[in-house]
Amino acid sequence: MTASVGRVAAHSDTDWARTDGGAIVMDGNRLRDTLIDRLRQKVEAAGSPEVCLATVLVGEDKPSQVYVRAKQKKAAEAGLASRHVGIDGSATQAEIEEIVRDLVADRGVHGILVQLPLPEGFDAERVLELIPPAKDVDGLTERSMGRLVRDLPGHAPCTPLGVMRLLEHYGVATAGKTAVVVGRSTLVGLPQVLLLGRKGTDATVTLAHSRTSELAAVTGRADILVAAAGVAGMITAEHVKPGAAVLDVGISRTADGIVGDVDFDSVQAVAGAITPMPGGTGPMTIACLMENTWAAAAMLGVR
Ligand code: GUN
Repeated sequence: MTASVGRVAAHSDTDWARTDGGAIVMDGNRLRDTLIDRLRQKVEAAGSPEVCLATVLVGEDKPSQVYVRAKQKKAAEAGLASRHVGIDGSATQAEIEEIVRDLVADRGVHGILVQLPLPEGFDAERVLELIPPAKDVDGLTERSMGRLVRDLPGHAPCTPLGVMRLLEHYGVATAGKTAVVVGRSTLVGLPQVLLLGRKGTDATVTLAHSRTSELAAVTGRADILVAAAGVAGMITAEHVKPGAAVLDVGISRTADGIVGDVDFDSVQAVAGAITPMPGGTGPMTIACLMENTWAAAAMLGVR
């Protein structure tokens, strides 16, 4: 170990970091960089075809602006092109739909990401449904979700896919293991259940949520626990089976800043592996967006 950052010891070149309670730190920043680097090598090996991610942002929400800029920066690092369309919050629903239709028709655009949430008053569903599965690199449309359910080719949503990449990278066994996902959002919880349970991954998955009774008893059986409820600090040591892999997807803005669903300090003493917050699942979302964009180019016959 080379240094200590809070309760997480930083990586040496040869060793995975552990918390002072002994849990392996599933480092999303580090894995994102590795995956982006690998993708860049693939892009270069393919002769650097022009593969373009279009981002669409409606309104002036500052955190959304930061997310979108980060996506463009990482696209450039991966050797992908990006194009940004900023739309004034005073635009009409029809104008936004027209812009997305143009991106759908544009053969120079391979992936389309409409940053969510849209400002109050817009119907996101009507915008998303314009995006065909091949260009839906966010994996969020009704058709993409249907394809995931039916195990047809398409894009899985980036955040749950990022969780799967962390599990793979850190050697967390899934076949025959018990996984519990807390939270049933279409963005994370529901697709996470599908990804963990599908053939080849083979976890036995339970979906828990705000109405689950005896939550600690349910989560306490999990070998893999994905917290995606958006309730700050709700998962404490008493919810966690000793040795479990705990992945925190929750984001809440509180007076203490941005916090996850997992009470890191107590859980790290019990878990076998844990994602930090920040620097865990968040960066993986961006890495998987780039993977999906590259895959979109193949689906569209570009490479
Ligand atoms: N807003 C927060 N996370 C996401 C995401 O993964 N995709 C989109 N489109 N919007 C988001």
